[in-house]
Amino acid sequence: MDANTLRRRFLDFFRQHDHAVIGSAPLIPENDPSVLFTTAGMHPLIPFLLGEPHPAGRRLANFQKCLRTNDIEEVGDAAHLTFFEMLGNWSLGDYWKEQAIRLNYTLFTEVFGHDPERLHVTCFAGDADAPRDDEAAAIWRSLGIPERRITFLSKVDNWWGPAGVTGPCGPDSEVFFDTNPGGPSDETPASNPQRFWEIGNNVFMAYDKRADGSYVPLAQCNVDVGIGLERNLMVIQGVSSAFETDVFAPIVEAILRQARGEDPFAVRVIADHVRAAVFVLAEGVRPGNSDQPYIARRLIRRVSRYGRRIGINGPFLARLAESVVATLSDAYPELSQESTQIYTALDDEERRFQQTLARGEREFERAAEQVRAQDGDTLAGQTIFHLYDTFGFPLELTEDLAREQGLTVDRPGFEAAFAAHQEQSRQGGAGRFKGGLAERNPATTRLHTATHLLQAALRQVLGPQVEQRGSNITTERLRFDFSYGERLTPEQIATVEGIVNERIVGDLAVHWSEMRLEEARQRGALGLFEERYGETVKVYAIGDVSLEVCGGPHVEHTGDLGRFRIVKEEAVAAGVRRIKAVLE
Ligand code: ALA
Repeated sequence: MDANTLRRRFLDFFRQHDHAVIGSAPLIPENDPSVLFTTAGMHPLIPFLLGEPHPAGRRLANFQKCLRTNDIEEVGDAAHLTFFEMLGNWSLGDYWKEQAIRLNYTLFTEVFGHDPERLHVTCFAGDADAPRDDEAAAIWRSLGIPERRITFLSKVDNWWGPAGVTGPCGPDSEVFFDTNPGGPSDETPASNPQRFWEIGNNVFMAYDKRADGSYVPLAQCNVDVGIGLERNLMVIQGVSSAFETDVFAPIVEAILRQARGEDPFAVRVIADHVRAAVFVLAEGVRPGNSDQPYIARRLIRRVSRYGRRIGINGPFLARLAESVVATLSDAYPELSQESTQIYTALDDEERRFQQTLARGEREFERAAEQVRAQDGDTLAGQTIFHLYDTFGFPLELTEDLAREQGLTVDRPGFEAAFAAHQEQSRQGGAGRFKGGLAERNPATTRLHTATHLLQAALRQVLGPQVEQRGSNITTERLRFDFSYGERLTPEQIATVEGIVNERIVGDLAVHWSEMRLEEARQRGALGLFEERYGETVKVYAIGDVSLEVCGGPHVEHTGDLGRFRIVKEEAVAAGVRRIKAVLE
């Protein structure tokens, strides 16, 4: 079954069950400045989930173009995508769990033809906000899913939403496909995420999360079902990555026709990003330096760079974009309608980037010569940062060039220069820095306060050797880099999370005052103390648990933060760890 057939059968199935088929909403949300892109099928439906009557009725279905950019750097493996399609069906105060799960099961087993023996499901384990979902589990059992293929998990895994900081959300029940049915029988989607692919999510949206972190029952009980198109195609087409399915294969072929040498990672980054860029440009966005234009620029420049890595030197994006348009314009006619202007925009941006690169390469040559003239073999962190900041030269590119010339790079030095720069722009009130978007809206403000709590908790658990090496906040998550030599254990992560949440629940007051840098240092405030002596700085205190030199802004009370959850812990460089965390 190809993607066009899958979309059609999906919509037909829900039509037969009295759902109105609605169109895909734009990728750039209308009337919602708090997020850059539509990230789920439910997003454009928020007013209707909150009780507004939908003109098409109480049962809806569609396929929705979505873009998630928070993990852009992780694209390149078999699983991560920025742009993806979500098949969705909704009950707006109409059917509830029983019918939702039955429809979902029939869709997967009869319409998509997934082997029922290979389906595993998860249900919400219950907590103070909502009870354990025995009801959902009983429905799955009645459909033939045995107890051992049902796992109960906490809010961290089995609760979805709100899409931003407040709004509709609820316990969910996720469906997984077992890619290795002969594997150990005690493994579950929670214990082995590689083995079990999430193919769908039934969210029982019965709550409205308020700004104070409370969950208030909604006027109506909604069902929000999201089904990843690419994942389901992988199962149906029997392949192990999205890039082998028919929504990607022609794009990958077009890349391979131009490439020299093998680099599957680069090919996947290019395929993913060119698709995303084409969809963003189709909505009239042009590359620029902030918000959606910035994402467009970042996607295009990354493609250009990875193209270079596989030996493609001239402009090539427009040609690849043709394969995207050919592959996806049946489902998204706007692609062919806008194709000419998409190609022109890609060409322009690519040429602009090539010029920047050429200038950067000359600068690199000069720096390399200087190192050699002093009989050195390492490019200093400051030099790498200068290439990055002034010439748009990403670290990996400098590393590649250095390697070609037998030089090494001072990576920790670069990270330190980068962190210092971020701190300066924050203190300068610029609020926005290269390498990430740091808007100051309520969502990012909360994450910013959470970052201070995180740093304090890390130092408490791991010791005072923990120092900030970088920080980046989007509306969806915080990212915090810090010095520490080892992977954190699950217990350490849970303890850090627990401490932060305790301090949120404790509703600590957040205050700031201005003082001289030297005084801040004497009081033990965290921060970078490289600036001139005597300079006045702003110091933020959270209760008596955190003191940091910082430009702000922050929330006034930690109770505003909601629930803090660490979603990832990983290495970024020797001796530097990275945590990504969200507020829910
Ligand atoms: N909104 C739910 C999700 O994105 C279905 O997983």
